[in-house]
Amino acid sequence: MLKLTVLVLAILGSAFSLPASNTSNVDVRIIGGSDTSISQHPYQLALYSNRRFICGAVLIAHNWAITTAHCADGWQISGLTVRAGSTTVSSGGQVASVRNVIFHQEYNRRTLDYNFALLHLAGSVAVASAAPVRLADEYRDVRPGEWVNITGWGRVSVTNEYPEILQVALVPVVNMYECLIAYPGYILTDTMFCGGLLGIDGKDASHGDRGGPVSFRGELLGLISWALNHGSPVLPDVYASIPSVRGWIRSVTGI
Ligand SMILES: *[C@@H]1O[C@H](CO)[C@@H](O)[C@H](O)[C@H]1NC(C)=O
Ligand SMILES: *[C@@H]1O[C@H](CO)[C@@H](O)[C@H](O)[C@H]1NC(C)=O
Repeated sequence: MLKLTVLVLAILGSAFSLPASNTSNVDVRIIGGSDTSISQHPYQLALYSNRRFICGAVLIAHNWAITTAHCADGWQISGLTVRAGSTTVSSGGQVASVRNVIFHQEYNRRTLDYNFALLHLAGSVAVASAAPVRLADEYRDVRPGEWVNITGWGRVSVTNEYPEILQVALVPVVNMYECLIAYPGYILTDTMFCGGLLGIDGKDASHGDRGGPVSFRGELLGLISWALNHGSPVLPDVYASIPSVRGWIRSVTGI
């Protein structure tokens, strides 16, 4: 145990003494997933800037959504829209405009700490195929080994096109220690947790579309945040933890 603690401290130490590695060139996608339907994940949203698909997002109330801050960052709010209630990314369901974006006040662009943005929608999502997610509460313990779903319309392989149909992959939560080892020099905080099928070559089911949901039976545990893909060996994904900001979501939205 002592040895373990020392190693973790050494990794943490290097994270804080070196310049943090660059998280802006991360690429997250579902590889090895399968087709699913919006009826299974009715809270899944597609986020667009000027009608171009940019990220996933999650419906949390009829007029509120959440995504990662790095998804919403850098766009004009007037060009942002979400599509709700559709299995397909480019048609169907209901499109709603984003009225305002509220970034977490501690969002750090470099480390992706507090990688959360709330989207206040201009209208109500009323389409029958969409429904708000159930948010994990602040006491929800997301345990290593627990299997969770990641969903999105990200590219399905390094060379493939973006899929039209929503993809799902079931992946295990990975303990922070393994994740720290996988990402020496990066800063991992308690607003993050990790998941993915480590070391399973060619079955890289650990990747989903950033900003989209990490869910357990309809309960929102996290948002797909970042990962590095150097091919093999497979590295875990890093997810933004909903329990870590449950109080902030409540204070901004009343939900
Ligand atoms: C981070 O990566 C992006 C994209 O590859 C690049 O444009 C940028 O210059 C990099 N920043 C640093 C500090 O290395
Ligand atoms: C994952 O999603 C599928 C449908 O896409 C569903 O059948 C399954 O129960 C979900 N599993 C969990 C753990 O949420």
